[in-house]
Amino acid sequence: MKFIVLTLFKEIFEPFVTTSIIKRTIEKELVSIDVVDIRDFTEDKHNRVDFPPYGGGSGMIISAEPLSKAIDYSIEKLKSDNKDIKIIYMSPRGKVLNYNISKKLSISNNNYIIICGHYEGIDERIIDEYNVEEISIGDYVLTGGELASQVLMDSVIRLLPGAISEDSLIEESHTNNLLEYPQYTKPYDFRGRIVPDVLISGHHKKIAEYRKQESIRITKKFRPDLLDK
Ligand code: ADE
Repeated sequence: MKFIVLTLFKEIFEPFVTTSIIKRTIEKELVSIDVVDIRDFTEDKHNRVDFPPYGGGSGMIISAEPLSKAIDYSIEKLKSDNKDIKIIYMSPRGKVLNYNISKKLSISNNNYIIICGHYEGIDERIIDEYNVEEISIGDYVLTGGELASQVLMDSVIRLLPGAISEDSLIEESHTNNLLEYPQYTKPYDFRGRIVPDVLISGHHKKIAEYRKQESIRITKKFRPDLLDK
């Protein structure tokens, strides 16, 4: 799976691609993440990529000209893979990301171009011209799409076969509309709070039953809406 991210702030991606599980999945060649600077495609003599909106209003809009050139360049780079290329724009008005969307993206055999807006967003004609899908990471507004794109990629990449151990995925939160049960590790006694007896009983069936009940209890407490699904 390949991601090409289009941004005005490439440096934000440096720690993301060079740390922990994402770094390892790149090294294992399960995924590649290329970061492309939209500014490299401007033909404006002052290197500008953003201009005030037609009709007035606050903020600046990323122009369709450099952005379309960055998209065309990325499509060209991905073309030889013979995979579908999906173009995603990180936007607070998009479909809100959840486990099912991440799972769908991870099992589809696509490559992705992700557009990160900044300022007041991008020219609407890009959305129409390239049949862009808009994804939000929640009902709040960020200063740009860069962090949102990392959230999206992280949630997709960790689900790719081989990225992390299959066991870690089986009982994690959201896999079956339940949140994960509480976990404990050493020490056995932390400031007088001891680990539940059942977890040190060695009785696998009882442990599984206890964890299931705890999952339901935690879901009822924090996200009762999930139980209705
Ligand atoms: N860009 C700004 N806010 C965003 C959000 N909530 N989700 C995705 N991209 C965004």
